[in-house]
Amino acid sequence: MRLEAHHLTKSYRRGQTHFNAVANASFSLDDGAFVSLIGRSGSGKTTLLNMAIGLLSPDSGEILVDGNNLFSLEERQRSDFRNEKIGYIPQGRSLLGNLTALNNTRLPFHLKRRSGDSLQKARELFSQLGISHLENSYPMELSGGELRRVALARALINSPELILADEPTSDLDIDTAREIWELFSRLNAQGVAFLVATHDVELSHRGNAIWKMHSGRLIQEAG
Ligand SMILES: Nc1ncnc2c1ncn2[C@@H]1O[C@H](COP(=O)(O)OP(=O)(O)OP(=O)(O)O)[C@@H](O)[C@H]1O
Ligand SMILES: [Mg+2]
Repeated sequence: MRLEAHHLTKSYRRGQTHFNAVANASFSLDDGAFVSLIGRSGSGKTTLLNMAIGLLSPDSGEILVDGNNLFSLEERQRSDFRNEKIGYIPQGRSLLGNLTALNNTRLPFHLKRRSGDSLQKARELFSQLGISHLENSYPMELSGGELRRVALARALINSPELILADEPTSDLDIDTAREIWELFSRLNAQGVAFLVATHDVELSHRGNAIWKMHSGRLIQEAG
């Protein structure tokens, strides 16, 4: 899959002033890419990620998935595209409070009609992420780092081609953070592409490119 963004701009208003959260950002991501997106808090990383997968519509610019304009699709087709191809690990808490950790993870599998069962896959992911003992816990019973790993399992359940992760290691101790990046590296070696917003400088150097956001502008530094 090739994901291209052309001249994305998104502006917001704060008080009387308008400002560009993202200004004229263009990029392309191909199969197997591993890009770290760095930049200060408020520089526009989350806004860019949300536009890249069609969750947030840009004021101008376009997003092409294998040459097709994402925002010319119906809402339903856009969510099918995300469900099938994208694993998204959002920045904040994103699990449903009334489902167990395991069922949160299985949910995206069952949003579309699919053959097979998600239970075995979900359990494999829990085992890889070291959270098998948390299968039946509810989100309110989990720590920040545990919630993070459940969200990661949920992002992986449909075997996505592209993973967008927004500060995936921010709640984690250094050893767990390293395990997550090892897992990302393994998946990347199998061809899964990554676009990862992170403040974690050490870990961002594991990617094959670093892009930097600065006041809404996207600067491609390396790779
Ligand atoms: N819905 C919104 N309405 C108004 N302003 C917004 C909205 N969403 C984001 N912003 C502003 O846009 C700017 C970019 O926000 P964004 O969340 O993309 O930053 P970020 O780089 O992800 O920051 P962080 O590293 O803290 O997560 C910030 O100044 C933020 O306050
Ligand atoms: Mg953010």
